[in-house]
Amino acid sequence: MRFTLKEGLLLGAATAATQIEGGDENNNWARFAAEGKVYDKTSPTRACDHYNRFREDIDLMAEMGIEIYRFGIEWSRIEPAEGAFDPEVLAHYREEIEYMISKGIRPMLTLHHFTNPLWFEDMGGFTNKRSVEIFMSFAERVIDALGDLVEDYITINEPNVYATNSLFFGTWPPEKKSLVSVVKAFSNMTACHIRAYKMIHEKRQRMGKEVTRVSFANHLRIFEPKDKDNSWHRTCAKLNRWLFQDAITEAMMTGKCKFPVMKRGGVTEGRYYDFIGINYYSRSTVEGIGDGVREDCHKNDLGWEIYHDGLIELANELGNRYGAPVYVTENGTCDNTDAFRPLFVYDQLKLISETDNPIERYYHWSFMDNFEWREGESARFGLVRVDYETQTRTVNASGKLYADIIRNKGVTDEAYEKYVEGREYHR
Ligand code: BGC
Repeated sequence: MRFTLKEGLLLGAATAATQIEGGDENNNWARFAAEGKVYDKTSPTRACDHYNRFREDIDLMAEMGIEIYRFGIEWSRIEPAEGAFDPEVLAHYREEIEYMISKGIRPMLTLHHFTNPLWFEDMGGFTNKRSVEIFMSFAERVIDALGDLVEDYITINEPNVYATNSLFFGTWPPEKKSLVSVVKAFSNMTACHIRAYKMIHEKRQRMGKEVTRVSFANHLRIFEPKDKDNSWHRTCAKLNRWLFQDAITEAMMTGKCKFPVMKRGGVTEGRYYDFIGINYYSRSTVEGIGDGVREDCHKNDLGWEIYHDGLIELANELGNRYGAPVYVTENGTCDNTDAFRPLFVYDQLKLISETDNPIERYYHWSFMDNFEWREGESARFGLVRVDYETQTRTVNASGKLYADIIRNKGVTDEAYEKYVEGREYHR
């Protein structure tokens, strides 16, 4: 064996509704694409047609031995107009969840993953004061309809990436550049998470369910000063980290709000997580407010630094601070030809298995290639390759390796030789 998987570590994969389902025109990303704003001019209305092909996809997951699966539901399908819920769509998701459970796959349901129904987007989305009530009414419907089937929940995916891209840098819909809007969205999303945390627990308890795990998926990065001897660079690293991830993490997990998060009515201090959800991709090397990549390093096909140690550092830091198991709710890389993804999977899982850390679950991003937001179909993250024209799925070498690791609880010499040996990262 090249390495044995950490005892008890569960392996799975993650996706998000808008990125794989196709067919829905009633959301802000479909409109953004229709306006020609996705770089490669593709649209999430195509994606992987998973809404129709979920059985085929879940069958493939089961064949690969996927144990846990994090997936999303499309709010704009469920509530196409404010207060109007579509029972057929909820029945569809029920069928999908029942199907994965029947295949032995444990579901983790994400309530919000970047995308808003048009009617919600056009009233200001999470910057609107009413957003908390509106989100809660949606979330309650979902739990009433599906809550008996699912133990594990993510309330909101990456509130920081959402707020930064959509409201601060203005590169995502609704293309705003306003710190005031970021503060409003952070504050309202914190209230949404905390209220949803309590609501899901209460409802599941009333259903007689003993185990319920709720948290949110945090996009966490390592921030490094470009020049360690430059005090401005050092200040920027700290400031970026606080503004981008630490303040919102603390607020959502504990209800303690500090700028840029403000305390909304109804938010009280407490413990609002049953696990620490970390989405980890890269390290930022900074010299100002914003992102940056060091010059001489291994990079993926989007130019992001590949830095596996960062995940362990963050898992340990948050594990110590918040005292809960860490679930890696996303980790993966953009590799359009699956040239180095097998090596990426190997290196990251080896590190998780051979270092001391509180990681209990690992959801690889992503199960299959999908609509990568502003990059559209051009950026591939999948263990499974998708031909969007024909909707053919082909398991990549990385997917075969992943399945082998699950089956053998580690990397055998044969698997290493077959899938990993000779592969290299590029710069
Ligand atoms: C998001 C995913 C996205 C992935 C790769 C995460 O920030 O949650 O939706 O596809 O990163 O960029």
